[in-house]
Amino acid sequence: MQESTASSFEPNDPATIDDPFPVYKALRDQDPVHWNPKGFWFISRYEDVLACLKDARFSNQPAPFALVHARNRSKFVAADVANNLIAFKDAPDHTELRAWLARNFVRRTQNQQDRFAALAAASCKTLSLGGNVDLVSEFAIPFSSRAICAVLGFPEADAPRVAEWSNDFFRLFHAIPDGDEFHRLNDSLRAFRQHVLDLMALRRAAPIEDLISDLVSKMDGSVSDHEVADNVMLLAADGIGNVQSGLTNCLSILLQQDRLPEPLFGSTKDVSKLVDECLRLESPGQYQGRITKESVQIRGKTIRARSIVLLGLASANRDEAVFENADAFRPLDTRPQHLAFGAGSHMCLGNAMVRTEIVHALRALFAEDAPRLVAQPHRHWLARPGHRWLEKLDVEVLA
Ligand code: HEM
Repeated sequence: MQESTASSFEPNDPATIDDPFPVYKALRDQDPVHWNPKGFWFISRYEDVLACLKDARFSNQPAPFALVHARNRSKFVAADVANNLIAFKDAPDHTELRAWLARNFVRRTQNQQDRFAALAAASCKTLSLGGNVDLVSEFAIPFSSRAICAVLGFPEADAPRVAEWSNDFFRLFHAIPDGDEFHRLNDSLRAFRQHVLDLMALRRAAPIEDLISDLVSKMDGSVSDHEVADNVMLLAADGIGNVQSGLTNCLSILLQQDRLPEPLFGSTKDVSKLVDECLRLESPGQYQGRITKESVQIRGKTIRARSIVLLGLASANRDEAVFENADAFRPLDTRPQHLAFGAGSHMCLGNAMVRTEIVHALRALFAEDAPRLVAQPHRHWLARPGHRWLEKLDVEVLA
């Protein structure tokens, strides 16, 4: 096998998709502020990634050359949606909208333990004994989509359709390869947005206990219907895609162990800490893209204004300068804060909710009376740059 070197870094290479960690290590050791001939910078050390995440000179707005740049708002739904999302806004536009959404989201999600436990138990019951089961499609997607639909206020019957729209929605976060795909993305976003707008109208007339009712009742003229609808779509997409991948990445680590780690059977705090160690090792988001607003110096290198910079969260999470024995799964250790949820003003808004969801899913799947899950040795990772998501997680379900 060829040795990984910093100059061989190619994020789309199938070998890198399968196992990016040797090349991340080479980058940290040899070229921590790496210029890649494909046209981007890659930052790989924890200290630098953390500093950049907190540095306002690194913009979240779509690149000037992107199809979804603000100049195309009236031309493409995708550009209009993207520019309404907190994920693609910079301060000061980002600040108030994010604070308003976060306040309502946290209030609505902080007491959902019983609901998530019940949904996890129900999703477990559908796994057929004696058979081979794909935990991505047969457990993680149904569980995460029902959970986020309940929180946001989509009827339960909508869950499969919302899961499909959410999967399309994620295309906003990576390069769009061709015109046909962009066309399909616009169609899908138009349908998803209309569905949310219809639901907002219903909740305005007759509120229920859900986040959409909370949001429409608290709109004070500073936020538009489209801004609310588009950020609801963002929450739905993150609530399904990221939860599904976070959960199955944790499961894939646990199912590889000779013995299930003790904290899995401990207090909520113990399980939650275990979840964090899994997310550190197998971070669903490998890097976050930024555009420099002005020229920036890092470790003696000059990154010019308007450059694409990828902040290597997953590489930072394996940085030996910060995490002792960084490649090892150490569920009993107290580790420094990992960067799987980012940091700074854009830090993941759903991090508390997803920890709770994964804790309940693991408890249901590894309960004493639950069937035993035996994983296949090989894991298939989705070929989507920047994402470490399992395509399938096949297990045998034994009594
Ligand atoms: C294990 C699961 C998850 C991971 C690994 C994850 C990761 C991240 C990361 C790295 C960011 C920062 C992006 C940046 O710096 O630009 C982020 C932002 C965000 N996440 Fe998550 N996320 C997860 C689950 C969720 C869930 C469950 C929700 C909500 C239902 C959510 C909602 C958001 C939102 C709305 C943002 C944008 C925040 C902003 O730009 O101000 N995430 N997430």
